[in-house]
Amino acid sequence: MSDRNDRTLPLQVLDALHEGVIVVDARRAIILMNPRAEQLLGRRWSPSVALADLFPDAAARAALEAAIAAGRATSQAFCHKLGEVVLEVGVSPFTGGGTGLGAVILLSDITETWKTEQERLRFVSMVVHELKSPLSAILNYINVILTGMFDTDPKRVREMLERCKIRGEALLDLVRDLLYINRREVEPVRKDAEDFDLCTVLGEQVDFFTVQTERHRIRVTVRCDAPRAMVRADRADLDRVFMNLLSNSIKYNRDGGAIDVRVSDADDGWAVAISDTGIGMSTAESEGLFREFYRVKNERTAGIPGTGLGLVTVKRVLSDYGAKIAFSSKPGKGSTFTVTFPKAP
Ligand SMILES: Nc1ncnc2c1ncn2[C@@H]1O[C@H](COP(=O)(O)OP(=O)(O)O)[C@@H](O)[C@H]1O
Ligand SMILES: [Mg+2]
Repeated sequence: MSDRNDRTLPLQVLDALHEGVIVVDARRAIILMNPRAEQLLGRRWSPSVALADLFPDAAARAALEAAIAAGRATSQAFCHKLGEVVLEVGVSPFTGGGTGLGAVILLSDITETWKTEQERLRFVSMVVHELKSPLSAILNYINVILTGMFDTDPKRVREMLERCKIRGEALLDLVRDLLYINRREVEPVRKDAEDFDLCTVLGEQVDFFTVQTERHRIRVTVRCDAPRAMVRADRADLDRVFMNLLSNSIKYNRDGGAIDVRVSDADDGWAVAISDTGIGMSTAESEGLFREFYRVKNERTAGIPGTGLGLVTVKRVLSDYGAKIAFSSKPGKGSTFTVTFPKAP
């Protein structure tokens, strides 16, 4: 095999394979390695290369040996981690010239799948954690009430029930956000999307928040510098995006503050900028803004309810439309979130 100039068809096929192929004989000497295997393992083949050089990990070699000894093909003998690369190693044993079992070892690069799987596991463990804390808090309050120690103090009992209600509502919000995210994962963007005028959509969304803005004496202005800013999208997605951004600009604003919504014609699409005069964020605080469950924790945000899933969802939805989001923020001054949507054809 060392002479690669002697091209036969099987060798050319091996060279072209996307999988790495290594062939070992009954003595576990390496008799063949295709270029992909050399690339994946970062070693060139030479007659002196041993299996231990390719798989320095003793446990990996033991797994290989066990798979060969089992005498039948295993598509996944084990996973092999080499720095940033994760390989799936499969083994197909064969009888080599009556001297015992040799094997074809197949290597596939599964780094991306592995990373996605790790991400998923991390997400699930975070979800469980986020569900657990409000639920424990609710049960704690109920247990205190059930001890009967406050039976003569209905005011205290009522206070505790009110806290239960707040935590219960937060829990329900969280579950709703999670359900929405999950639905987005399994359902593709709807194909029956229509064209919508961003100015109309934003006007309606702003109206929807009138009760909250009036309660906090927040003045809202919607400016349409692009009167027919048409985008092709599922209306529910547009609502989801702007509802989240507007709700943040109210929640993290100050009483008597202002919100300025501006739709304009940017070179790369229609830009919607939502500016508030709220608590803002420092650069360090805004670092994890688009990570699941991330919420800025300081004395200004204490007591403001939320799930930390809003901006994650916004970003996720926008990416389905090739739309972008950017922001700028100053602590104590306010924030501007700008969404740029591709123009409808
Ligand atoms: N307009 C804003 N002004 C200040 N902080 C903001 C603003 N929007 C978002 N944030 C910060 O980013 C965090 C994440 O926002 P989001 O994903 O919408 O979650 P939630 O609002 O449920 O906390 C918020 O908890 C808040 O700390
Ligand atoms: Mg939010």
